[in-house]
Amino acid sequence: MSPEEAKGEMLRLAIEIERHNRIYYVEGDSEISDLEYDGMFRDLELLEQRFPEFATPDSPTKRVGGEPVDGFEQRAHAVPMLSIDDVFSEEELAEFFARLQKNLGNEKIPVTIEPKIDGVAVALHYRNGLLDYAVTRGDGRVGDVITGNVRTIRSIPLKLADDAPTWLEVRGEIFMRTDRFAKLNESRQEAGLPAFKNPRNATAGALKLLDSREVAKRPLDFIAHGLGGHEGVDFESVNSFHELLHHHGIPANEPLWEAESFEGTLKAVQELDLKRHDLAYGTDGAVIKVNAVADQIRLGNTARAPRWAAAFKYPPEQVETVLREITVQVGRTGTMTPVAELDPVQVSGTTVRRATLHNQDEIDRKDVRIGDTVVIEKAGEIIPAVVKVIKDKRKPGAEAYDLFAAIEGKCPSCGTAIVKPEGFVAWKCLNPACPAKAANQVKQFVSRKALDIDGVGSIVAEKLVEREMVSSPLDLFSLTESQLAPMNLGTVEEPRILGPKNAAKILLSLEKARSAPLHRWIFGIGITQVGESAARELARLHQNFRELAQSEILAELRTLQTGQRKEDNEKLAVFEIASEVGPTVAGSVLDYFALPAGQAFLARLEELKIEPASDNYAPTRTPAGSGEENAVTGKTFVITGTLSAPRGDFKERILALGGKVAGSVSGKTDYLLAGESAGSKLTKAESLGVEILSEEAFETLAAS
Ligand code: IVH
Repeated sequence: MSPEEAKGEMLRLAIEIERHNRIYYVEGDSEISDLEYDGMFRDLELLEQRFPEFATPDSPTKRVGGEPVDGFEQRAHAVPMLSIDDVFSEEELAEFFARLQKNLGNEKIPVTIEPKIDGVAVALHYRNGLLDYAVTRGDGRVGDVITGNVRTIRSIPLKLADDAPTWLEVRGEIFMRTDRFAKLNESRQEAGLPAFKNPRNATAGALKLLDSREVAKRPLDFIAHGLGGHEGVDFESVNSFHELLHHHGIPANEPLWEAESFEGTLKAVQELDLKRHDLAYGTDGAVIKVNAVADQIRLGNTARAPRWAAAFKYPPEQVETVLREITVQVGRTGTMTPVAELDPVQVSGTTVRRATLHNQDEIDRKDVRIGDTVVIEKAGEIIPAVVKVIKDKRKPGAEAYDLFAAIEGKCPSCGTAIVKPEGFVAWKCLNPACPAKAANQVKQFVSRKALDIDGVGSIVAEKLVEREMVSSPLDLFSLTESQLAPMNLGTVEEPRILGPKNAAKILLSLEKARSAPLHRWIFGIGITQVGESAARELARLHQNFRELAQSEILAELRTLQTGQRKEDNEKLAVFEIASEVGPTVAGSVLDYFALPAGQAFLARLEELKIEPASDNYAPTRTPAGSGEENAVTGKTFVITGTLSAPRGDFKERILALGGKVAGSVSGKTDYLLAGESAGSKLTKAESLGVEILSEEAFETLAAS
C-alpha cells in the first residue's frame, strides 16, 4: 500500500469506526458484528503502526487510553458550574412555578422536563470542532482536567460536524448504564474486589483513575444536558440546543417533555416517574427548565443555582416482604455469596425475588434472619438491597444466620471444605475443579488475554464441562480430535457439530499455548485478585511457576501492614514492585499454591511437560547492590513522539539502567526523550527548562 493509499484508508477507517461507535454507544443499536468492528479496529491500529506520521490524536484507537499521569491539572470554568435547587413535593413544585410566573410576569411559562441523570458532571470544550479538554465540576469554579479519561468514553465524539462553532462547551453527566454497572460489579465480586455501592460511585471512582487505560475498561457513558461557554453559535431555547447536539452526534438527554403550566409540568413529572425505571441509567428526579434562553437570562442565578431550573426528587420506593430463605452462590473464583430469597414484590417498576446479602459481615450488621420481614429498596434505584429488618415482626425462635454452619462448612457445589483467606470477608471454595467454577475458569483460561485458545468460546467451554470432558483448564490438554470433532454444540433437535476443522484449530491453539509466556498463564488460571497487570508484574519477578509458588518476595510482601510501603522495606525496595502487586495479591497467590488444589495444578503441569517461562523477567530494575551507577540511574524520563522502536522498548531499557519513566512532564522530570512529531509534552518540557534528548543523544547518555 502506498503512503497516499494508507492515509486515505486510515481516514476512512477512523470515520467508519466512529460512526459505529455512535450507532452503538449513542443510539444503542448496531449495524455490524463485534468481529467486524474488531477487524476494522485492528486494521487501523496496524496502519497507524506502519504509518505513524498519519496517526491523528483524535483517532478512535486512542480511546484505549494513554500513559498514566501523576495527577490532574486544575482549570477554572469560564462560566461557573452551578447546582440545581431541589423540590421534594408537589407543593414545592407549585411554588417554583408560581415564582417563575411572578418574575417573568406571564401566566404561561414554556418549560422542558427531562430525567435527572445520576452521574458525575463534566464540561467538554470543543475548539473548532475538536474535543480540546474536559473538566470536572470540582467546586463549581475550578475543576480537574480529565481529558485523557474522557477520551476513552466512546459516546463522546472527539470531532464534531464540519460546521461546528469555534468554541462550544457542552455540559453533561458521565454515568454508567445500569446493565453495564451490574456486570462490572459481578466481575469485581468474583475477583474478590469490593463491589461499588451504586453506578455513581463507580463512575466517580473510574474518573479519578490516573491511568486512562484502566478508565477505558470501565463502561462509562455520557449524556449532555447543558450549555456552558460558546462562541460562533447562539440558541433561543433548550429545544434548539438539543437540535444542535443531535446535529453533532452528541448524545442528548431524552425523553424530553414540554409544558407551559404547573399542571402540565406536574403531569410530565408523573409520566417520567412511570417511565424512568425503563431508562438505561438510574434517575431519582426530573429536571424542569425554562425553555427560552431569553427568559433564563432574565431570571438569572443565585450564587448557588439558576432560578430558571429545579430538580423534582422522587422518593425512593421501599417495600416490605418476607425473606424465606438464604441461599449460597459460588462464583468463578469460588466466592460464596449469600442471597436473600424473597416473597416476590414490585419495587421501583420491577419484580424483586432475590437480593444479595453480600457476605456474613453484612448479614451480622443488619441482623438478618430467615423468616424475617425485611424492607427492600433498590440501591441507587437499581440493585435490590435489604435495607433493614422489621424486628417487631420477627417470629420467636428465629436464629442468627451463620453461612458456614448453613452449608456445613462445605462448598454447596463440590463439597470441598470452605476457607476464609486472610484479609477477606467472604468464604471461598478453593477447589479449582469445583463444577460451579469450572466452566467460568475454562472461559477465563481460553480468553484472548490469557491463553487465547482459538475455537473455544463460551459455548464450547460450557459444553466441555457439562459433558465432563473437562473439569479444569489443564484437562483441555488431554483432549483429542476424536473427542472434539463429533461434539454437538446445539440440541438433539437442532444439532450443531463442532467438526474436524474446528477440532484441529483448537488442538493447534492448545499446542501453541504450551509455550505461551508465564504472565498469560498466571492470568489464565484465575487466581483471586490477579488481573492482567498483576500477572505481568508477577512474571517480571519470577521465572516460572515453581519460583512463584515458593516466592520469598511474595512471602515478605504479604507481611506488610497497611501503611507500610514496599519502597521502605529493606528486602523489597530493590524490586520496585508495581502497585498492582501488594500484600493482598501476594497472599492470594501463595495461598493458591499452598493448597492441595494448587499443588495438584503444579504436578499436573509437570506431567503434561508444560513449563511456562517468563518473557519479561527482570526482577531487580536497579543493578542490585553493585553500587554501579550510570548516567541514567535515578533519573526521571518522559518519552514522547515517534522513535525508531516502540516507546515500551525505551522504557524497559531506562528501567533496566535504574532510571524512572513518568507519564507526564513536571518539575521532577530530568529528561524528555523526544522522537518525531512530539507535541504538548515537548512544549511543556521546553517551558519548564527540562533537558530534551533526541534518540541519538539518549543513546550517548545510556552508553556513558
Ligand atoms: S441542567 C445549572 N439537567 O445535576 C444547572 N443537570 O444537582 C444546569 N444533572 O449540576 C444543569 N441531570 O450536573 C441538568 N437533566 C439534567 C441533569 C443535570 C443531572 C446534574 C448536573 C447538575 C446537578 C445538580
